[in-house]
Amino acid sequence: MDLIIKHSLLQFNTLGLNVYCDQLIQVGDDETLIHACLEAFKSKQPLLLIGGGSNLVLTADFVGRAVVIETKGIEVTHDESHYLLSVAAGENWHGLVEYCLKHNMHGLENLALIPGCVGAAPIQNIGAYGAELAQFCEWVEYLDLESGEIKTLNNDECAFGYRESIFKGELKDKAVILRVGLRLAKAWQPNLTYGPLQQLSEDNTSKDNKEVTPQAVFDCICATRAEKLPDPQILGNVGSFFKNPVISEKAFKGLQATYEDIVGYRLADSQVKLAAAWLIDKAGLKGTHVGAASVHLKQALVIVNNGGCSGDDVCRLARLVIDKVYRQFGVSLEVEPRIIGADAQKDIQDA
Ligand code: EPU
Repeated sequence: MDLIIKHSLLQFNTLGLNVYCDQLIQVGDDETLIHACLEAFKSKQPLLLIGGGSNLVLTADFVGRAVVIETKGIEVTHDESHYLLSVAAGENWHGLVEYCLKHNMHGLENLALIPGCVGAAPIQNIGAYGAELAQFCEWVEYLDLESGEIKTLNNDECAFGYRESIFKGELKDKAVILRVGLRLAKAWQPNLTYGPLQQLSEDNTSKDNKEVTPQAVFDCICATRAEKLPDPQILGNVGSFFKNPVISEKAFKGLQATYEDIVGYRLADSQVKLAAAWLIDKAGLKGTHVGAASVHLKQALVIVNNGGCSGDDVCRLARLVIDKVYRQFGVSLEVEPRIIGADAQKDIQDA
């Protein structure tokens, strides 16, 4: 097990925050991963698991062990109707989407270009453009840190919700995801419900009745994301910084009376999911900055690092956004990424 003492985590987080950790271990196989995590857990050493580092806000030097998960491997079997994939946690998510497309296994196109690793995907049930991981995830295999056993949860047991799962609830800090099982239907049905994809469907049917292909969906998603979301290689970010808040239909109607153009999507049980981006934009917060962190000009949900910003800048800016949105709309925004302090995850208000 190659352990590096006092190493910067700069290259391991997409926000580009330069904090150090006491110990860094990069692991490429399950055995080392299990050993590295159990050793830290049993000795009560703070443990930070890093996949693609695309959902982390590091606010201080980490006084513990950072384990970077780089396990690889995609195994494919199939039955009459489905492809069944078993994918190692350290595989890059977008790489997997490309691999599937290349091998004629379709369904994941709407989730193209989501940064991060496969092992992180179930934790927050990644989702975009009308699709989410829960629709394809058959099982998740993980290391139970308390018992040291390897366990498997089926889709129901993962308790997936909007950016939620058991790994953020009951199993928080107690599980290390090792592999994810995916189930892709051989009979592909394009999912064209979301904005720019509707256009794709119209363009193709009106012109020459050509069918929409998985490649066309993939290309459309990549182009849409590239236009709105900053490339972390160029401008550090963690994608959406805030979740879209869910409020009651009654509260929504109240807001609509003042803000006719407010954006909300009706859910079951008289609930409405508001577009946090719209609230932040309407509150005039685009471009607002604290230190070198700012609210992205093209997509108000994203906080960007304009160069050399600290986790503290990011958290202060996030609190400013939460506060302003609450004062204007009476709606509480929740943050999406994990805020990591010196030895554990923190609440944004205490960061
Ligand atoms: N809007 C604004 N101002 C902006 C940006 C958007 O008013 O600066 C409005 C738009 O006009 C639109 C609404 O807000 O009507 C929603 O915006 P958008 O369609 O861009 O999607 P979103 O709700 O902001 C969610 C996910 C994204 C995902 C997109 C596409 C969350 C928190 N975010 O964003 O996920 O890519 O939908 O499905 O659910 C991520 O998690 O990192 C992420 C990027």
